[in-house]
Amino acid sequence: MPERRSLIAGNWKMNLTLKEAGSLIQAVLNDIRGLEGVDILVAPPFTSLHAVRRAIGDSGILLAAQNMHPERNGAFTGEVSGPMLVEAGCTHVILGHSERRSIFGETNEMVNLKVGAAFREGLIPIVCIGESLEQREAGRTFDVIKAQLEGSLKTLLDDRNMPDSLILAYEPVWAIGTGKTATPDQAQEVHAFIRKWIHDTFDPSTAGRIRILYGGSVKPDNAADLMSRPDIDGALVGGASLKAEMFIPIIRF
Ligand code: PGA
Repeated sequence: MPERRSLIAGNWKMNLTLKEAGSLIQAVLNDIRGLEGVDILVAPPFTSLHAVRRAIGDSGILLAAQNMHPERNGAFTGEVSGPMLVEAGCTHVILGHSERRSIFGETNEMVNLKVGAAFREGLIPIVCIGESLEQREAGRTFDVIKAQLEGSLKTLLDDRNMPDSLILAYEPVWAIGTGKTATPDQAQEVHAFIRKWIHDTFDPSTAGRIRILYGGSVKPDNAADLMSRPDIDGALVGGASLKAEMFIPIIRF
């Protein structure tokens, strides 16, 4: 079994002013000095990216944007492109978050275009997938996950080439921001399904290397249990990543 380094990622969503973002990143930096064996990533709003990049310096903390447009430039009012994110200091970009899908109408086709554009620009995509409560209760979880994987990663699938750097995040919609976490068994079951899908669709070595994060009400008191499962390689944390006293214990799970 190849080693997959744990990754704890904080998705700040549309929260924190520039000043607040600066205080939070400083608190995280102060606490993680010398910490080894875990990758840490933060995804601030666009307006804080550059400042947070400067603050994290050579600490090794990774920086992600929360979205991007697939074109490099053009008449797309309100959008931000891959080269702009690279210039701001991003190494990663979250794509297809359920809030993008449900509130802003983002489809698998759009996510697929963005995944291709991210790789072309040298950004590592963190592709989010997850079923709604209705879909889970109807017993459709695996069908939904499979359809999202096939649609959001279509070009990679057509080319039969999934770069090992790609990160997937399983975020059951019913667990996001609700305080309702998937049990470690529920999460592991879906993570194992996703890894098997990669194994069968691409190849065993890729399946062994891709990191699959769990997201949805991750808190200090449930992080260790989730992360102890064999196919859960880290966490995408929303609410609990906004306060150092919550985020740090998760990083130190
Ligand atoms: P939450 O959000 O931790 O607040 O549930 C997770 C996410 O949406 O990435």
